[in-house]
Amino acid sequence: MIDKKIVIANWKMNPATLAEAKDLFSAVRREAKRIENVDMIIAPPVLWIGHLKTKDDDEIKFAAQNMSWEEKGALTGEVSPLMIKDAGAKYVIIGHSERRIYFGEKNDMANAKILTAFINNLGVIYCVGETAEEKRGERTQEIIEAQVKEGLKDISQGQVEANKLIIAYEPVWAIGSGVIPAFDDVLSANLLIKKTLAGLYGRSTAEKTPILYGGSVDAGNAKDFSTKGGMDGLLVGGASLKPSEFGGIMRAVAN
Ligand code: PGA
Repeated sequence: MIDKKIVIANWKMNPATLAEAKDLFSAVRREAKRIENVDMIIAPPVLWIGHLKTKDDDEIKFAAQNMSWEEKGALTGEVSPLMIKDAGAKYVIIGHSERRIYFGEKNDMANAKILTAFINNLGVIYCVGETAEEKRGERTQEIIEAQVKEGLKDISQGQVEANKLIIAYEPVWAIGSGVIPAFDDVLSANLLIKKTLAGLYGRSTAEKTPILYGGSVDAGNAKDFSTKGGMDGLLVGGASLKPSEFGGIMRAVAN
């Protein structure tokens, strides 16, 4: 069982300037201060992490949205886990569907990144979920199972236990679309991920691994993902850029 719900804000490639990022962060932090019982992680563009993170501000954790599978070297445009840690992030999102769709990331690449993240003691928010076409073809279960197994290949129970692994179930067709899955389907995906983790690492590790939902979450639907879908928290995109909506999501999950 997970003691506290987790809410992650994925700002994606927003906002455009550091000044706007600081304003957004201050507003979100004001909302977060009024809420107890929720662990909050913000994933801003990596460039802003070092500017937003302050030393005494530990109640909000930071995540990068992506990273290289290497620690250093000739990889133009990439960001290393060492840099992410130095900037103050504790987590990294890996395998987000936008990385899979627009940048050709596959399960084996996600796997290499997860390995490197764990070697560097970064927590991992690993995203899985089926596309609309895969759903129509009734391949949801097969896809999720493969994403979990291949993404975690050669990663030991010790590594999973020592570091923080969070799995986010994000049906690709629900992201940014305003359409959400039936809560029964959310619960099925949750149970399937837990079962797959139990097969890899045993029940106790599976029970301790938070499973989150992401895709068109708003303040109105947030609570049902945990009460009806059994989820341990949420990964929020669009609504995380609107502080009062995001505050509503955190309140809904906390209660
Ligand atoms: P959304 O994005 O909340 O805007 O649908 C979620 C995500 O991509 O993580």
